[in-house]
Amino acid sequence: MTSALQTHELHTTAQLSNDISPLSLRSAFGQFPSGVAALAAYGEDGVPQGMVASSFTVGVSLEPPLVSVAVQNTSTTWPLLRETHRIGVSILGEGQGTIARQMAAKNADRFADLPTATNHDAIFVQEAALWLETSLYGEFPAGDHVVALLEVHNLANFTDTHEPLVFHKSQFRNIRDH
Ligand SMILES: Cc1cc2nc3c(=O)[nH]c(=O)nc-3n(C[C@H](O)[C@H](O)[C@H](O)COP(=O)(O)O)c2cc1C
Repeated sequence: MTSALQTHELHTTAQLSNDISPLSLRSAFGQFPSGVAALAAYGEDGVPQGMVASSFTVGVSLEPPLVSVAVQNTSTTWPLLRETHRIGVSILGEGQGTIARQMAAKNADRFADLPTATNHDAIFVQEAALWLETSLYGEFPAGDHVVALLEVHNLANFTDTHEPLVFHKSQFRNIRDH
């Protein structure tokens, strides 16, 4: 006799596919909702550098306080950001999807008309849900990405006034939408 548990396991196994092509993975990984982090700092030449990352993760470690981000090996901005003394991380707030697109745009001024704040060489986006002032703690090769650990030195938590922006299935959503 097949138990309910076995039936369930069979059914689940039948759903599994070995299609782990980049296209399939991109769609699959999109099922995992995330926040959107804007990483920004003044480069050595005084020019602001910034990019957006949905691979950002908090809570890697509390002592020391570490967060992480996975950066594509092809990134032209990361080599400049990683050299800065401090990297500003802004967890974008609800309604800031347009800012996220602007800060990821190719061949455009990512800081045009963008309200920002600075501390040391870290740059923060105004109206974000959270600011973390960080420095590079370590980097690890990870396939076509590099995983960077960032150590948190200062923070500003706007939890009482700003909900975070959510990235899900390639779309920006607001927590209040549902
Ligand atoms: C919503 C969103 C999430 C992104 N997440 C990442 C990410 O986790 N890692 C990454 O390397 N690039 C990510 N990007 C792309 C970068 O922001 C940027 O466009 C890319 O690094 C190319 O620009 P660059 O050559 O100036 O670095 C994301 C872009 C968007 C719009």
